[in-house]
Amino acid sequence: MAEENTGLSNLLHEERHFPPSDEFARHAVAGAELYDQAKSDRLGFWADWSRKLLTWDTDFTETLDWSDAPTASWFVGGKLNAAYNCVDRHVEAGNGDRVAIHFEGEPGDTRTITYSDLQREVNKAANAFADLGVGAGDRVAIYMPMIPETVFAMLACARLGAPHSVVFGGYSADALNSRILDAEAKLVITADGGYRRGAPSSLKPAVDDALASGAPSVTNVVVVRRTGEEMTMTEGRDLWWHDVVDSASDQHACEAMDSEHPLFILYTSGTTGKPKGIVHTTGGYLTQCAYTHKNVFDLHPESDVYWCSADVGWVTGHSYIVYGPLANGATQVMYEGTPDTPHKGRWWEIVEKYGVSILYTAPTAIRTCMKWGEDIPAKYDLSSLRVLGSVGEPINPEAWIWYRHVIGGDRTPVVDTWWQTETGAIMISPLPGVTDAKPGSAQVPLPGISADVVDDEGDPVPDGGGGYLVLTEPWPSMLRGIWKNPERFKETYWSRFPGIYFAGDGAKKDEDGDIWLLGRVDDVMNVSGHRLSTTEIESALVSHEKVAEAAVVGAADATSGQAVVAFVILRGTASDSGDALVKELRDHVAHEIGGIAKPRRILVVSELPKTRSGKIMRRLLQDVAENREVGDASTLADSSVMDLIQEGLKTAK
Ligand code: WTA
Repeated sequence: MAEENTGLSNLLHEERHFPPSDEFARHAVAGAELYDQAKSDRLGFWADWSRKLLTWDTDFTETLDWSDAPTASWFVGGKLNAAYNCVDRHVEAGNGDRVAIHFEGEPGDTRTITYSDLQREVNKAANAFADLGVGAGDRVAIYMPMIPETVFAMLACARLGAPHSVVFGGYSADALNSRILDAEAKLVITADGGYRRGAPSSLKPAVDDALASGAPSVTNVVVVRRTGEEMTMTEGRDLWWHDVVDSASDQHACEAMDSEHPLFILYTSGTTGKPKGIVHTTGGYLTQCAYTHKNVFDLHPESDVYWCSADVGWVTGHSYIVYGPLANGATQVMYEGTPDTPHKGRWWEIVEKYGVSILYTAPTAIRTCMKWGEDIPAKYDLSSLRVLGSVGEPINPEAWIWYRHVIGGDRTPVVDTWWQTETGAIMISPLPGVTDAKPGSAQVPLPGISADVVDDEGDPVPDGGGGYLVLTEPWPSMLRGIWKNPERFKETYWSRFPGIYFAGDGAKKDEDGDIWLLGRVDDVMNVSGHRLSTTEIESALVSHEKVAEAAVVGAADATSGQAVVAFVILRGTASDSGDALVKELRDHVAHEIGGIAKPRRILVVSELPKTRSGKIMRRLLQDVAENREVGDASTLADSSVMDLIQEGLKTAK
């Protein structure tokens, strides 16, 4: 791959570097010595952090048991309760009055939840769920909007040792049904709905449909009243949260769970149609969530206000809204709605209002804000921000620079964090007080993590080379398997390169050995025998001043194998979309990368098809690029986008 990949010059010649300021480095939680400590005794390093960050009921006797590889056991023999670690111990330590969650509802309603409040709410929910027959090992499906009860419900499950399976509220009834069936959930927690784009968006009717399709394991549904919309309650099955939880006792003695007790299942899509139930357990997962949240975001829990804009329905919400921040006793903002409701400055208004100091979001959100224009964030006081994080997809250097400049006032470190549902927590990322940051690169495995880039044979590539990202040593928050499917677990992650974990991402090492993520390997194109990364061409397009967002696909071509087709959204101020602009953009790509990467076609569109988690669905764009009928668009956040794109292209012709 290395030799063939002719097109990475623009990424690998990124010359802008951003070292932390002396001031930041002086007060940083994590210093460079962490790398040395981890190197000299990796397992000892993890054992120390685990004991330092968590409260164990029974100490562990062995740090890692890898004898049953690829299923790991971490902190063997130890016992702890995840909810106790996220809630009770902070109250016991005298921090009960510290705000755990500043909740901001989309309509503007707010709630302030201290750690003492959280303890009462979680205890009540745990008692209520136990009364409904939920005990250790039983699965609970959670299908909720972004409201505090979602966090209470997850922690109540953790308290009881009942693995939760959170299903993102944007999924359909069918998707919910298949996840409930696969996990054989006993209880479903939901709400009448939540607020999105200025209106109530219902959830309970989808639960009714999901259960009507048959879900024999479910005995009860607990429903939070959020929007007050009318809906049907099924007698004997459905119960109001305010009836069963509010009346329950706020005292609950929790039991310590084995370190390897399953904490949750989270379904994620793979290369096949059937989603995979990724299983995470307690001790290792919580250790790495707390460790990464503290060190990567430079968390000072007594003074920081942290905000992760993800939905709790994704792994980012699990690890960086619930388990990481709460284990660390952080104060955080939780926002229910969309960034442009009621106006496009909502996020920045929230940053100003709560004095947010650490912001963790996705490149797609950053590029959307770029599209809206920098005059919007400029209206707000963002001076409280100290650290900015990015996750979910490769961040192109221009978006990185914009994020640091416009949002971070050229002051804040930006941490580009690479990880996956499967890895449970951040794996590759700069440390904000240590790393000389390079826009667009996640750079280095965190202390204690071993990653590499290998070629087709599984041999590490030299600096300057490209190939596949692999993880070469087990890590505490690694998935313990795929629910009820051990074969698929081995086959998906451990068979491509025996003995090491195959992440499914393409990557390059630059001349300094820093890692650049290039997108899923399935997004790699082959144009006239040259391998090109979709990410790289997108990055080149977005570096043009008139482009806000770009998606690139490889369209089948009889001569060259694949041809590059680009879809671009122009910035708010750019109005021209004619031939001259298309030529300008093609030339720009040629200039940035080389003639080989020059898109065959560039289509100017007003929207891109994205899943509810913000990932661009290239498959659908590929259908357009190849003049085919557009395939299944049911997982799009907005299913009308494809019609809009096609209409727009017709009129443009
Ligand atoms: C991609 C989200 C580049 C990658 C936490 C990975 C990234 C997939 C980054 C996992 C990043 C995530 N740079 N690519 N910083 N972070 N990805 O399971 O392709 O929703 O394999 O987990 O997102 O997505 P998932």
